[in-house]
Amino acid sequence: MSASTHVAARPGLPARAGQSALPLAAADYWYFFAGFLRRPWKVGAIAPSSARLARAIVRHCHLQKADIVVELGAGTGAITRHILESIGPHTTFITLELDARHVARLRERHPGLKIYRESAENLRALLAQHGRKPVDCVISGLPWGNMNRRTQQRILREILAVLKPGGRFCGFGYVHAGWYPSSRAFHRTLQQHFRRVGISPVVWRNLPPAFVYSCT
Ligand SMILES: C[S@@+](CC[C@H](N)C(=O)[O-])C[C@H]1O[C@@H](n2cnc3c(N)ncnc32)[C@H](O)[C@@H]1O
Repeated sequence: MSASTHVAARPGLPARAGQSALPLAAADYWYFFAGFLRRPWKVGAIAPSSARLARAIVRHCHLQKADIVVELGAGTGAITRHILESIGPHTTFITLELDARHVARLRERHPGLKIYRESAENLRALLAQHGRKPVDCVISGLPWGNMNRRTQQRILREILAVLKPGGRFCGFGYVHAGWYPSSRAFHRTLQQHFRRVGISPVVWRNLPPAFVYSCT
């Protein structure tokens, strides 16, 4: 496992007052698009999530009272910043991202926030290594529609293993990808493993338009 890190309280919030939750800088779009060009299947989108989508996700997660929150596939931090603003003062926030340059960008934006450069496929081992307790909420930015069924299952097993009873799993899907066989398979798997799978109305102000799913 590469770098280790977690954030207690909110040291990951941008240092300068008023800087948090600003619209993404042009550089973020560039970093993200460059990541897409390098590894289109892994990155899975041409642009980071919009603030509108990030807020819709975080709204579903009830983070204020969470002890431990995990974000998977943080990218350049489009959702991360909203998570940081929503968690409580004692919440531990752990974030995983695979792409080295995205990790570098995240660290630049959130100097206090240490990040695991790690695959979600190793979530359980990563948390166990640091003696972590069960997780209240896992927030996914992962491109599930681009994964084969085996990888989907592997990552979902990891998520289910770390979630506390009654814990929540949230993320987003792209509307256009909803008909991909891989997306449909993913949705069926969610329904098998969670009692409730909620789907939000479409968030049109995102590139591409997306919806939020929230599972308990
Ligand atoms: C669709 S982008 C979303 C990025 C960001 N959360 C957002 O909403 O803008 C997916 C991100 O997941 C990362 N990723 C893909 N597979 C991963 C894996 N197995 N473990 C961790 N991150 C992964 C990619 O590098 C990429 O940054």
